[in-house]
Amino acid sequence: MTDSTVQHSPKKIAVLISGNGSNLQAIIDDQAKTSDLYVIALVISNRPDAYGLERAKKAGIATLCIDHTDYASREEFDTQMQLQLDQAKIDLVVLAGFMRILTQGFTQHFLGKMLNIHPSLLPKYTGLHTHKRALEAGDTEHGLSIHFVTPELDGGPVILQAKVAIENDETEQSLQQKVHQQEHIAYPLVVRWFCEERIQLIDNRVVYFGQQLQQPLLLAEQTSD
Ligand code: GAR
Repeated sequence: MTDSTVQHSPKKIAVLISGNGSNLQAIIDDQAKTSDLYVIALVISNRPDAYGLERAKKAGIATLCIDHTDYASREEFDTQMQLQLDQAKIDLVVLAGFMRILTQGFTQHFLGKMLNIHPSLLPKYTGLHTHKRALEAGDTEHGLSIHFVTPELDGGPVILQAKVAIENDETEQSLQQKVHQQEHIAYPLVVRWFCEERIQLIDNRVVYFGQQLQQPLLLAEQTSD
């Protein structure tokens, strides 16, 4: 039986953003092609000026700004997000450039139902400024990782990685651009996998088609031209 023969009811996903939302856009575009697999029920931004909110509105998706500066603590902010996500009966939370550290309670609540994309080949370069750090270290390759979110920051089990080569004349900007290009291919793919129930988080390990992954999957090399 091929996976395409398996019928599932559409999953309700929420995308959390803080900025430009180019990954959100890639998922919006993908959803238009795979319309019965999932619906983007909600886009939440913690910043009122996030351009991604405009992208969502243009696509007719419900948006919500939960401004973290309105909340006295991380817990109160996360509680409000959790309330909204639960009310919307979300099956999958997709962090797409959401630049807030999440509380343990929030990550536990959505354990196995929350994905993050991070611009490095984890476990290398958790945190910020990943492109700069890869260049400064003299790395010859860099990339991105998509992982299940666990309480450990950028530390959850990795599902898929994509690599890009670092050339001699590489700049932080050109590297970021290359990684972004791969992100826009990789993230919709993993969202689809989740919605097709191909991937699961079991005992803190990624299970892909019923098999525990021994190492992250690798996106086949793509050429930009
Ligand atoms: C992406 O490159 C994503 O990997 C990164 O933020 C960017 C968001 O871009 N995420 C992180 O650094 C999370 N630690 P976008 O707003 O254009 O999708």
